[in-house]
Amino acid sequence: MANLPDSPSPLAPAAPPVSPAIQSPDRPVQTSLLRFELNGEAKTVAAPAHWTLLEILRYELRLTGTKQGCDKGDCGACTVQLDGKPVNSCLVLALDVQGRTVKTVEGLAVGGQPHPLQKSFDKRGAAQCGFCTPGMLMSAEALLRQKRARGDEGIETLEIAEALSGNLCRCTGYTKILSAVVDAWRDKP
Ligand code: FES
Ligand code: FES
Repeated sequence: MANLPDSPSPLAPAAPPVSPAIQSPDRPVQTSLLRFELNGEAKTVAAPAHWTLLEILRYELRLTGTKQGCDKGDCGACTVQLDGKPVNSCLVLALDVQGRTVKTVEGLAVGGQPHPLQKSFDKRGAAQCGFCTPGMLMSAEALLRQKRARGDEGIETLEIAEALSGNLCRCTGYTKILSAVVDAWRDKP
């Protein structure tokens, strides 16, 4: 039987560095205290420093309206608004929301009533499985709000498609979604 070497060959690839977490499984995870505004309310959340905003929303605050799809910025299912602008919450480090304003689909209703976009999505059949819908709504709401603030009078299908280009839908073919956004713009949900 051949003798086994008792040390790695110098030609063997170097072992990858071992993270402190693996070296010390009992080591506590570092947490951070986050203070931010969520859907109009002040929130204070203690969460692992490496978590994303998506993880804070779904697993700490139990706001599961924001969906977890690809988890890498491709699908838009996790879209929320940060300081009024749509972002992929799976790409936002939780620490980056400190002192800022976050809005999720749970905060979209107006005066206890569904937002006009929610009504028009329902009326047009723009939500089928519904997995993309919260993200679509948050991107569309930001577009309509920005246009109204600018005083725009009309809306083009192309600008809606551009605003929703980061939100993928595998069910609807997008036509009904575009129509629903136009309806909401015309305030005919
Ligand atoms: S889950 Fe964030 S972009 Fe897909
Ligand atoms: S309605 Fe199913 S992914 Fe869009």
